[in-house]
Amino acid sequence: MRGRHIISAFDLSSDEIWRLLEITSIMKSKYYSGERVLNILKGKTLGLVFQKHSTRTRVSLELAMKQLGGDAIYMNWNELQLGRGESVSDTARVLSRYLDGLALRVYSHELLYEMASASSIPIINALSNEEHPLQAYSDFYTIYEKKKRISGLKIVFIGDGRDNVLNSLIAVSSMLGATLYIATPPDYYPSKKILERAYRLAEVTGASIEVLDDPVRAAKDADVIYTDVWVSMGQEGERDKRIKDLEPYRVTGKLMSLAKKDAIFMHCLPARRGEEVEDQVIDGPQSVVWDQAENRLHLQKALLSMIL
Ligand code: CP
Ligand code: NVA
Repeated sequence: MRGRHIISAFDLSSDEIWRLLEITSIMKSKYYSGERVLNILKGKTLGLVFQKHSTRTRVSLELAMKQLGGDAIYMNWNELQLGRGESVSDTARVLSRYLDGLALRVYSHELLYEMASASSIPIINALSNEEHPLQAYSDFYTIYEKKKRISGLKIVFIGDGRDNVLNSLIAVSSMLGATLYIATPPDYYPSKKILERAYRLAEVTGASIEVLDDPVRAAKDADVIYTDVWVSMGQEGERDKRIKDLEPYRVTGKLMSLAKKDAIFMHCLPARRGEEVEDQVIDGPQSVVWDQAENRLHLQKALLSMIL
């Protein structure tokens, strides 16, 4: 995997994702046994170029590099010459001379491919309008950690069917043979492009992905209930319509009670409490959101050690 770009969650094969989850588990146990700093990436530097806000991704990527013995440099898009018109490809060429890898959080997913084609270092998608692969890989680690398996679990996403995190969850589900239900209004059904790719992979892995508009039927007997915000970064102008359209898809205590007794609640965070999820759910005993956020660190250490 050395030198690989991670732009879409589809960029790793099933075997590579399983290996990534195994190494994540090693990283996590080393961390807890007191080996907080490893010398795996000594002398290496990851750049972070962010166009959007971030708490978890930024902090966990910077820390991941430091805990691997390397370094990280955070750059706000607008403070770079990029922000006043230097081209993406010229920036990629220059940053490739300084850095060993570059993680970007951007609006345009296509920009990541443009960056990758001009750069000689791995490009990592730290969230774009279309995908959030680091989140999805890490979330499957969390599911595996909590449930000890992936196959046979009923994993349910409730909310915006075109959400960037969901797109990456669809990709990983299709590769790991998961059973994923997506409850979303018909106008928010996931893009055909992503679904078709996932269905092709599912034929090989045994995954099953079903999109439906009924949150109640989806939640019934679920092992995992997952949601994300209804208004993602960059969609603020559509706020009123989205809130109205997605209102029936809120994860409430009542909806959670339809799932299995030992079902877990997941959210990539940040959450808009009272919108997509009620306080009693996110703060309740079934919520694993804080472990989920922590695991971003362990997973990214595993991934960075593999690609850098
Ligand atoms: N889940 C996630 O990516 O969080 P941040 O936006 O805080 O990085
Ligand atoms: N869908 C959300 C995820 C944030 C981590 C957004 O893009 O704003």
